[in-house]
Amino acid sequence: MRFCLNVDHIATLRNARGEMLPDPVTVALIAEQAGVDGIVVHLREDRRHINERDLRLLRELVSTKLDMEMAAVDEIIKIACDVRPNLATIVPERRKELTTEGGVNVIDNIEALSNAIKELHEAEIPVSLFIEPDINQISAAAEINADFIEIHTGTYANAANEEEQFDELERIRLASKHAKKLGLGVNAGHGLNYVNIKQFLEIEDIDEVSIGQAIIARAVITGIKEAVEEMKQIIRQKK
Ligand code: PXP
Repeated sequence: MRFCLNVDHIATLRNARGEMLPDPVTVALIAEQAGVDGIVVHLREDRRHINERDLRLLRELVSTKLDMEMAAVDEIIKIACDVRPNLATIVPERRKELTTEGGVNVIDNIEALSNAIKELHEAEIPVSLFIEPDINQISAAAEINADFIEIHTGTYANAANEEEQFDELERIRLASKHAKKLGLGVNAGHGLNYVNIKQFLEIEDIDEVSIGQAIIARAVITGIKEAVEEMKQIIRQKK
């Protein structure tokens, strides 16, 4: 199973103070050296974290794979066609949400999504649709020529107990098998962490996972000791 890192939250931290650091591009390059198979960013319409400068620099510097999450709206499609990421992942977007809240409804938005896919394909960009593990949604994605689906794993990640988690895992297993039969590549993500990834690895038909929050949060915790020690050492030298 390949693993891509979403660096949106590095930009969230940078933007909180309107400064230059931490820089999501630097973090992406270090993550590549550490072994990730790709970098994911979501250029939101409100630009709350990643901005166009980040996206364009990442396009120049990322040597693994750049996956651009995006809403299927004209302004962002135009930017994607210009920047040409290795993959465009279409997600639903609501201004007030804290994070992407669920999959895109392919069946209800078939024409708009079909047009977006056509436009992105004309720019030679493969397209993934972020959707629920639902057989009908997956069939609709294949009908409009999506190349990949990304299965929304939020329900699995937020399951209230083991039984719910097991049921959702089964749903994801069946959904990914169905997608594979239709010739789709299968990615997955949202809410995956150091604990719930373990059972998830047993699903054979998933090619790739996309993880953000858990890894960025872990990096802050595991890095704090070194960061404090370094500052303490500088201050001690001046005693
Ligand atoms: N995949 C998609 C489509 C997403 O929108 C997100 C969240 O930005 C992720 C994966 C990663 O989710 P998380 O940050 O919870 O790991």
